[in-house]
Amino acid sequence: MNSSQDILIIGGGIIGLSLAVELKLRGASVAVLTTNSKQPTARAAAGMLAPQAERIPPSPMLDLCLQSRALYAGWVERLEEITGLKTGYWRSGILAPVCQNEFQEQQSVSNLNSQWLDRDAVRQQQLGLGEEVIGGWWYPDDAQVDNRALFRTLQAATKELQIEIVQDCAEKIIRDENRVLGVETTAGKLQADRYVLATGAWSEQLLNVPVFPRKGQMLSVCVPENCGIIQPLQTVLFGTGIYIVPRQDGRIIIGATSENVDFTSGNTAAGIQSLLAGAMQLYPELQNYPILELWWGFRPATTDELPILGASAWENLTLATGHYRNGILLAPVTAKLLADLIWNQKLDPLLAAFHYSRFPEHWGFKNGD
Ligand code: GLY
Repeated sequence: MNSSQDILIIGGGIIGLSLAVELKLRGASVAVLTTNSKQPTARAAAGMLAPQAERIPPSPMLDLCLQSRALYAGWVERLEEITGLKTGYWRSGILAPVCQNEFQEQQSVSNLNSQWLDRDAVRQQQLGLGEEVIGGWWYPDDAQVDNRALFRTLQAATKELQIEIVQDCAEKIIRDENRVLGVETTAGKLQADRYVLATGAWSEQLLNVPVFPRKGQMLSVCVPENCGIIQPLQTVLFGTGIYIVPRQDGRIIIGATSENVDFTSGNTAAGIQSLLAGAMQLYPELQNYPILELWWGFRPATTDELPILGASAWENLTLATGHYRNGILLAPVTAKLLADLIWNQKLDPLLAAFHYSRFPEHWGFKNGD
């Protein structure tokens, strides 16, 4: 492709595809450049839509996360209509159990829906919790989506909407002082009017942005057939350094480590042991559940743990990266606000908090420039 598309999105993960679909639905001609669609950052996620359980303090980041959570139901409904596929969106609520000797500060955002449950009440909310659980916070408005199903649905939506997907490796962003002129790939040069950088944990390989990988190891188990019910867990359990995310098909996702080990691949004995120990403390019955799969992924972290969204130092390059722990949650609001900006020249004031200029020492291109 020597793209004559209006917009070229570099990166075919959950953020890149969400934005591509949104732009296409608004009438843009859009292409996505992606290397390996089987290994997106989305694999590091369990699909929790959890601004409250993640205890994000009152801030523009909390506002962004709450806006996105509010958009979710309508957003997935539209994707499901386009594709006929299911995303596994489930308003399951999230329970944050507190164990003995654990200090859990009060939920600090009083206008949000949450409730403290004591020892008995927390067990009424979810049967089978471990002996050490002394209570818990209940967040009924937090939810979850099956992130792999969502990714498949987004891929299907790009096909349905005839969005061009270019399977190639971006090697360099070519630019002059003010504008991006093209993207060099292993198969040649791609050009468009506008470009979006959405390469997640790999962004730093193309642009001098402070985005680095934070590895998350995960595993899944399944409810044994002799258990008699498909899914005994009816809510997400969000503990300290551990979460347990039930799917309606009987799988249970357990995550996630948080490791600064660059792009070191693989699961480790210590990582999986810590996840299993934490999970069985919260929900002991898991000790009898067969293990289905182990995997890992790389979150796109930034030094202040906030995404980098909006304008860049180049007038036709938009940034959509650094979503760290909240990429799945933030996909709809990122797509909406950046489509507003790119296609409708409408700048939401909320984007100011996520502007690249907060990192003055990081704003040049890499790779020989
Ligand atoms: N969103 C949870 C995680 O990144 O582990």
